[in-house]
Formats: sequence, structure tokens, C-alpha cells
Amino acid sequence: MNTNNTSPAPLLEIRHLTTSFAGDHGALPVVDDVSLSIPPGACVGIVGESGCGKSAVAMSAVRLLPRPSGRILAGQALFRGQDLLSMPTRQLNTIRGAHIGVIFQEAMQALNPVQRIGDQIAEPLIRHLGLGEEEAHARAVQLLEAVRVPAPAQRAREYPHTLSGGMRQRAMIAIALACRPELILADEPTTALDTTVQQQVLALLRDLRRELGAACLLISHNLGVIAQNCDFVYVMYAGRVVECAPVQELFAHPQHAYTRALLAATIRSDMPRKSPLPGIPGNVPDPHEYASGCRFCQRMGRQAPLGSERPPFAEIAPGHFAELCPACCNEAISH
Ligand SMILES: Nc1ncnc2c1ncn2[C@@H]1O[C@H](COP(=O)(O)OP(=O)(O)O)[C@@H](O)[C@H]1O
Ligand SMILES: [Mg+2]
Repeated sequence: MNTNNTSPAPLLEIRHLTTSFAGDHGALPVVDDVSLSIPPGACVGIVGESGCGKSAVAMSAVRLLPRPSGRILAGQALFRGQDLLSMPTRQLNTIRGAHIGVIFQEAMQALNPVQRIGDQIAEPLIRHLGLGEEEAHARAVQLLEAVRVPAPAQRAREYPHTLSGGMRQRAMIAIALACRPELILADEPTTALDTTVQQQVLALLRDLRRELGAACLLISHNLGVIAQNCDFVYVMYAGRVVECAPVQELFAHPQHAYTRALLAATIRSDMPRKSPLPGIPGNVPDPHEYASGCRFCQRMGRQAPLGSERPPFAEIAPGHFAELCPACCNEAISH
């Protein structure tokens, strides 16, 4: 999908990605023909409730899906025109370490519990940038300072469990940004943190991103976080993109009923992760229940006007696309 004909060549372009997880019901597509594009230097968001397939999209793109259950069935993830999904693992490892930094929701999962923080930050510097041991360690301390960890030299010698949640998240950001990547994949980078620390870490990420001129794919279930940080946003529901637009356009003219429901929920409060959205019955269905037609009609318990046909995904205003189910979308917008 080309969302803007005048934009520069995308840094990362995901094309027609379909990913499955093996479950009790066989292999289930949890990402269903998703395309998205990240221009150089831009911050692009993916938003949607828990279970919609946001992480599966990002993890597919860098081939970090859980094994052996996760499988990419189709699609491409072109990083500067090269397909990450079909390139040799060696080449992918170099790109992932040096050009794409990955930040996860839970720092403890990404950090090695038995390795000192400083060594973990120094490692990619040695491996990808060829720095000497001493230089890499000095740089690791500088990086901890850059992510505003107090007493960085001392912290560098400590193990992850001695740090608070917020400090661990900062350490993980330091690792992800060590090699000055052009792209940062941040999957719910602050969801596990309390609100004050969340704001601090997001502000830090914004500053560092600007300093590096890096692009970012920011995943969040919270539209508030997306609004504060992103230029362009993709709304995912049940494995599909139902709407995408520049962020201001999306907030001003939300088109799909799911986007409008998310907005209504965000305005009310900081949405708790697993709770159903106000005004919307039920939950995100399990992938084995996914309808082939409009999945939001399925959620609303109504007959999809297009039956089992997937609604067409079409441009409704410049750069603004939506899955045009007649029951879920406003009349064609004009502005
Ligand atoms: N390791 C796994 N094995 C099987 N199913 C999984 C696994 N991880 C996630 N899923 C399922 O895949 C779907 C998408 O999950 P995920 O990408 O984590 O959603 P999100 O990031 O939007 O919360 C969900 O239905 C989830 O239950
Ligand atoms: Mg997730």
C-alpha cells in the first residue's frame, strides 16, 4: 500500500504480512494480510486492544516470533528495499543489532539476568561497531547516562534484578540505541511502568529519537500514547488493519467504528489493559473464531452487510485509509 505518493522511499515497508500461531485449533492466522510503511525519521504507531496482533506484526518483521509456534505464512518486510523475511540469518542479525533497535514491554524478558548491565550494553558495540572492550564499556556508561540512569558507572556493574522497573526499561533502551539505529521498534515500551515513570520514559525516547533522527514503530494499546508520539497511526483489530491515517486526521475524522470506540475509551481514562471497551460488548475474539468478513460486525453481534467478504480497504481522504464495511464506517467523508 502506498499511503502517500510524494513521500520518500520507506525505511521499512511491511507488505501483505500473514502470520500464524500454532494452537489447539491448528495454525491460526493472527496477522491477516497487513501492510504498513515507515518513512525515514517518522514515528508510526500501531494501536488496538490486547490480542489484536500488534506484537505479532512487529516481531514477524524482525523474525523474533516465538518458536516453534509462530510462523510467517506470506509477505515481505523490506528494510531499505531488502526483505528481512527472506535474507540469510547472518545478514538479518547484523541489521537487527546495528540498524534496528528493539524495545520490549518487559525489560526482564529482554535482559540477561546473569550478565552485568554494562556488559549487555557493550556487547553490540563490540560485535557490530568493532569497538575494543575498554572503549565499549566507557561508551556503555555514557549510554546509561544518556538514558538518565543515576550513578551510571556503578549501575553498569550491577545485574538487572537490582534495578527498578523504570531503570531496567532505560537500560534496555540504552542497549537498543547503542549502535545508533535508524529504526526503533518499541512494543508497549512503557506499559509495565506506572504513569509518572511512563511519561518520563516516553519523553526520553522522544528526545533520543530526535537526536538520532531515527524512525520508530511504536506499539501501544493506548491512543493517548500514540497521539503524543506518532505522526501516523495504524489501527489494528483482530489481526487486520481497519484504519490508518496521519495522527491528527485520525483523531479529527475517525472513520471506522472500532477507531471511534477506541477514542471514546481513551477520552474516559487510561484504559486498563484487559478490560473491555466502554460501549462495546464482548472482547477481541480468539483467532480460531475470526470471521472472514468484517470482524468488528462479528464483535458487535450483527450481520456483516458484505457477508463473508472482507470489506475493501480504500483511501477515503489523502493518506487516510479504512476498511469500508457499510455498517462500521461513516458515509464517505469529505473535508
Ligand atoms: N506464543 C504464542 N502462541 C500462540 N498464540 C499466541 C502467542 N502469542 C500471541 N498469541 C496469540 O496471537 C494473537 C495476537 O497476539 P499479539 O500479537 O501478542 O497481540 P497484541 O500485541 O496486539 O496484544 C492473540 O490471539 C494471542 O493470543
Ligand atoms: Mg503485544
